[in-house]
Amino acid sequence: MKKITTQTIRNRKKKNEIITMMTAYDYPTAEILDEAGMDILLVGDSLGMVVLGYDDTTQVTMEDMIHHTKAVSRGSKRSLIVADLPFLSYHVGVHEAVRNAGRLIQEGRAHAVKLEGGKDVLEQVNAIVSAGIPVMGHIGLTPQSINQLGGYYIQGKTEADALRLLEEAKALEEAGAFAIVLECVPMELAQYMTNAITIPTIGIGAGIHCDGQVLVSHDVFGLYEKITPKFVKRYTDIRNHMMSAAKDYVKQVKERTFPSVEHSFHLQDEVMERIYG
Ligand code: KIV
Ligand code: NA
Repeated sequence: MKKITTQTIRNRKKKNEIITMMTAYDYPTAEILDEAGMDILLVGDSLGMVVLGYDDTTQVTMEDMIHHTKAVSRGSKRSLIVADLPFLSYHVGVHEAVRNAGRLIQEGRAHAVKLEGGKDVLEQVNAIVSAGIPVMGHIGLTPQSINQLGGYYIQGKTEADALRLLEEAKALEEAGAFAIVLECVPMELAQYMTNAITIPTIGIGAGIHCDGQVLVSHDVFGLYEKITPKFVKRYTDIRNHMMSAAKDYVKQVKERTFPSVEHSFHLQDEVMERIYG
């Protein structure tokens, strides 16, 4: 079993081999995705919404990210672990960005970090990479900017926006990013961007031409129903399975059919005698 590295990911594009990525936030999910052959486990700050129940990702802290990254790294043997830098952990200054990226590696045991943005974060990308920490970019729809974007809308639809995104992809490559997530952009633009850079693009709602694909695991498994974007494919309905198991348990405990004797422990006869005489 060969471990996936950022070099593996870079080489995939050269060999025209697709890259698979999904989010993971805990130990059992990391084990499952790793064993399923996922190339990259993303400890996304989407955890704020799908695991912690926040309205958006701006409430997620470094402590949240480190806590969940630790759990994921303990569950994974082969996959590359990428952890999101949360809102405001890399905007205030380059030093702080490097320090926080370092914490995700040193304390969280991630192999790389991801941050949102283009031209505004190039200095940070450069400095983090210089510290020996691989960086994945993320442009298009950047959920940490929800208050500025006004909603989770498709990006890069106008000529000016499309050209800006293309330039940002090139600049992120130049700054040393090893891959870039493209979120919610027209597939034709994603294709153009993919062809314009030598590092892999990993798409979410970015069509069929990206070098890799990523989805939020809670969407794939059917565990989060608050928002279901068009680009999501729900492969199973874990929520229903959990609901029916939980209801069965409630019913059986109330009926006193669980636990049964076979789920119970017994006192040894001689102990019974000493107690009850
Ligand atoms: O946090 C996340 O889940 C992400 C993916 C949507 C790429 O950043
Ligand atoms: Na994210």
